[in-house]
Amino acid sequence: MKIFGTQTEQFNLTNQQLAMGIAKCTRAQETLRPAQKSDHSIVDKVVEGIFQANLDGRYISCNQALANIYGYESTEQLVLDMTEIGQKLYADPQRRVQIIELLKSQNCVEGFESQVYRRDGSLIWISENVRAVQDENGNLLYYEGFVTDISQKKFAQQYLQQSQAQFQAQAQQLEITLSKLQHTQTQLMEKENMSRIGQLVAGVAHEINNPVNCVCNNLIHASQYAEDLLNLLRLYTKHYPQPVPEIQQAAEAIELDFLMEDFPKTLSSMQLGADRIRQIVESLRLFSRVEQAQMTLVDLHQGIDSTLVIINHRIQPNGDNPGIEVIKEYGYLPMVKCYGSLINQVFMNLLCNAIDALEESKQQQSTDPFEDSSINFQETITSDSALATTDSQSLPVGKEQNSSTIWIRTELIGVDTEQGEDTNPRAVIKIIDNGSGITEQVKARLFEPFFTTKAVGKGTGLGLSISRQIIVEKHHGDISCISSTEQGAEFTEFRIEIPIRQ
Ligand SMILES: Nc1ncnc2c1ncn2[C@@H]1O[C@H](COP(=O)(O)OP(=O)(O)O)[C@@H](O)[C@H]1O
Ligand SMILES: [Mg+2]
Repeated sequence: MKIFGTQTEQFNLTNQQLAMGIAKCTRAQETLRPAQKSDHSIVDKVVEGIFQANLDGRYISCNQALANIYGYESTEQLVLDMTEIGQKLYADPQRRVQIIELLKSQNCVEGFESQVYRRDGSLIWISENVRAVQDENGNLLYYEGFVTDISQKKFAQQYLQQSQAQFQAQAQQLEITLSKLQHTQTQLMEKENMSRIGQLVAGVAHEINNPVNCVCNNLIHASQYAEDLLNLLRLYTKHYPQPVPEIQQAAEAIELDFLMEDFPKTLSSMQLGADRIRQIVESLRLFSRVEQAQMTLVDLHQGIDSTLVIINHRIQPNGDNPGIEVIKEYGYLPMVKCYGSLINQVFMNLLCNAIDALEESKQQQSTDPFEDSSINFQETITSDSALATTDSQSLPVGKEQNSSTIWIRTELIGVDTEQGEDTNPRAVIKIIDNGSGITEQVKARLFEPFFTTKAVGKGTGLGLSISRQIIVEKHHGDISCISSTEQGAEFTEFRIEIPIRQ
């Protein structure tokens, strides 16, 4: 019994000790439990997905946020399902290979963006921050990191890109509209200018025409009367060599001898002047041709000539300005069916541009101290219109390189002379100058509306764009520019081609 008693006591003691141990454990568990609880809730409350993955491409553990991002109900489900991250998760399986390559070289990768599949097969964008975890010997153990769903951001980016593309397209459309508008504006200005200038010129020409004709015609009679009177006076002095003193005094007072010699000269220079006015008025009338709303048969040489008359003041020598030599090399041209006043407007634009270029190059030369300025300039307007161009393809040669010269060449092309048949006959007019020349950059923009290299107030930049419209759109012809350097001199050639029948 003693023994039993002793054994029982021992059991009791052990039991008590166990109970105390369990109580201790329970207390310890109780104190641990809140800590564990709070640990989980931090990980689960994080918005970012958190994961640990092994080297074979499986998740070791993850938080609920990651499960949510990938569309799984629980973390266990995700860990079980995702047997091969590279193949199952990434839309492009190469992304897993790429991130592992990066982790090998830099241990930590941030902001790695990829498209991934959610459980239901839909695609989302994620950004990963991942590091490789190693043991103390540097052996790779596993990967761990954060995942953020950036689909919203990507969507916004894509939306932005689309909007940008849309804006760019709209801007391009606006540019096209603007250039169309400029084109229309140019046309309107051209029409308005032409009709306004045309009306004015035609009105002035008409008003001046009658009085000028009156002066011209009466000057012929006046010269005849003067001649008769002078002859009569000569007869008087022959038969009455000694007039009375009063007449003698009066004759001396008016310097009768000089008067008798000079009077006919005065009258003939008046006649020359009046004839010139008549010529100018006729040219203005031909130039404007407002009465012609329809195409008519036009002598283009006459058009060039009347244009030259109108701009003669810019060609003539004036003071120190030695003037410009105009060499006309007119070939055969038949009458051409066209809008005469518009074609004259083109001649005017091209000739004025040539004169501007010649003036500019003279100015450059006069400011160049090494330039020889002792050359004499001769002004001639060759009116020999029968002269045919020998080789109209080549640029002018054999001329004084420093004299300001404009060549005007015309020819008929597109006629099959051997067969004597017309194929597509076209009138070609070339206006060539040895002025300042044209650089490649300027050449590329010559025909743009409002493009000018001239000072404000001097150039409008409309001359060539209007000319192109007139030639290409109104006459189905062609206008082009060739600029070349030959023997050290710049030549600029504008070439117009118009079908002789529309
Ligand atoms: N014969 C020429 N030589 C040199 N440059 C020229 C010539 N013709 C035209 N250009 C160039 O082309 C530009 C556009 O000419 P244009 O349309 O007639 O406008 P604007 O004469 O008002 O400048 C000129 O500003 C000039 O730079
Ligand atoms: Mg011009």
